[in-house]
Amino acid sequence: MEVIVLLGPDDVARVAADVVAGVVRRRPGAVLGLATGSSPVGVYAELARRVAAGELDLSGVSGFALDEYVGLPAGHPESYAAVLARDVTGPLGLDPARVHVPDGRAADLEAAAEDYEQAIAAAGGVDVQLLGIGANGHIGFNEPTSSFGSRTRLKTLAPRTRADNARFFASPDEVPMHCLTQGLGTILGARRLLLVAQGSAKAEAVAAAVEGPLTSMCPASALQLHPRATVVVDEAAAVRLTLLDHYRQVYAHKPAWQRP
Ligand code: GLP
Repeated sequence: MEVIVLLGPDDVARVAADVVAGVVRRRPGAVLGLATGSSPVGVYAELARRVAAGELDLSGVSGFALDEYVGLPAGHPESYAAVLARDVTGPLGLDPARVHVPDGRAADLEAAAEDYEQAIAAAGGVDVQLLGIGANGHIGFNEPTSSFGSRTRLKTLAPRTRADNARFFASPDEVPMHCLTQGLGTILGARRLLLVAQGSAKAEAVAAAVEGPLTSMCPASALQLHPRATVVVDEAAAVRLTLLDHYRQVYAHKPAWQRP
């Protein structure tokens, strides 16, 4: 995979936004895979800035969220549907009718998961999937031991993920126990993967994903199976990578025609 190591979070946001913008420039009706969590916040902010400046038009794209909590009441501010509507759809000028989130309130969650897979397929698949990474190596909500072949389905959140996400809720008990998440197989079906990570808390997970063995104990190691995966990290998130100099050299000498 391509590993790009940059000075700080602002550089990560800029370079990741370049990739997304490049995809949309080539295909104005592109399908974007949308991640939530704090990792992509800077990328969205940079895209929103370019949209506001008239440099980029995202009004023709479709979006598919990676995951959604199960059982939060409609309109709960921390449901990923609400987070995306507030922080992504509006600021990026996306068409709300074309932004899709798994239905975590469905009476039949299995059917909702299947419907979601069908909706992604009907849209022609995801052109570029933006990803964060959990401290335990999860992507989407695919916790350790998730199958590399998994599709959208119900998952139980790992205690560490619930603890990590408790900061968004009034109390740790409020963090849902379950979620619907695209599977690793679903994610690998995207034509391009773009994982961003910042900060030392992610250093171990990034190293395991990029340089560790292919193992469901680190779900993000599934990126090693993808023919077009790019990992953009800042210095702090890169400290555990052993081939740091190699990644820097590759990026410094990246041919112009390969750049977004
Ligand atoms: C969350 C999300 C993931 C996200 C990850 C890391 O719970 N479900 O999509 O990438 O965990 O979160 P953060 O970016 O806030 O560190």
